[in-house]
Amino acid sequence: MVRDFPNLLTRVKIDQDTQDICVRLGDEGLGGVAILGMGGSSIAGLYVQALLQEAATFPVRVNQVYTLPAYVDSRWATIAVSYSGNTEETLAAYNHAAQRNCPIFAITSGGLLLSKNISTMIIKIPGGFQPRAAFPIFFSVALNLVECLAGVNLTDFDTISKSLLAKLAKWDDSALTPRAMAQDFTGYVPVFIGSSHLTPVAYRAKCQINENAKTMAFYSEIPEANHNEIESFIADNEFNILPVFLRSSYEDERLKRRMDITTSLYEEEGFSPIRLSIGSKDELEEMLALTLYLDLVSVELAELRGVNPVSVNQISRLKKELE
Ligand code: PA5
Repeated sequence: MVRDFPNLLTRVKIDQDTQDICVRLGDEGLGGVAILGMGGSSIAGLYVQALLQEAATFPVRVNQVYTLPAYVDSRWATIAVSYSGNTEETLAAYNHAAQRNCPIFAITSGGLLLSKNISTMIIKIPGGFQPRAAFPIFFSVALNLVECLAGVNLTDFDTISKSLLAKLAKWDDSALTPRAMAQDFTGYVPVFIGSSHLTPVAYRAKCQINENAKTMAFYSEIPEANHNEIESFIADNEFNILPVFLRSSYEDERLKRRMDITTSLYEEEGFSPIRLSIGSKDELEEMLALTLYLDLVSVELAELRGVNPVSVNQISRLKKELE
């Protein structure tokens, strides 16, 4: 499933009718866009939010709770994302959006969300995946929807997909295969450290290690971590922490300095940080290439640990007990 990532980016495209609705909503003037979703289905929204952080002329907010903020009114477009279509927090937030007469798009493979087709513009995605493996579909659809609402050109995922396929082949032949990286993670608790558009990539990596490799992982963000977490990276630390710095070719001068100094400080304290960067043609490709690489690492780590990367027994058990 993970190796299919590049192809999944182009698997579902928004149709002309949906595009026309987005353009009309954009022309009428949007208050903002709220993207509703949980877990594997929320990540796409976080990527869209980070990518548009500076360029967006309206707020883009990811909602990972049952309720919506009071400021989300009928001028806000909402995008409900749920692979199963049955996630209770997403459905509850969806109901709030419906009560407030927000235009609603839903990206789902089925469940209750799919049955809400009277008031909702549904983008149906194929079944048979784990929600987290469907990320490339969620992301390409959600980004194109928000681009359409913003009245800007839609990202062409065909080119990015080809470039990721080429990278995939290259990694298989390189010294730093995802398997080799997973071996470096063995016995450690990785802390993925990102900045700007790579912060959600750090978060995704943490979640993939948790869900696929069934082990502890954390994430943090520079500059914020320089004001708190940095105090915990000290020589007498009793945990086996592995800092993994996600480095961008697009860091501005201050972020670059912060990343470099933080790495050196951790080295001085006896940690062995990994610096991870992948060549790309722009920030978007960089986000997706690093995501694909780290997704593969999480599956390799699962294999090394002898666990099943597909099952999510604890998530399922908790959902069942909540019924
Ligand atoms: O990865 C997973 O399986 C979970 O994080 C799910 O994505 C999460 O529980 C939400 O479910 P769904 O994606 O069906 O809305």
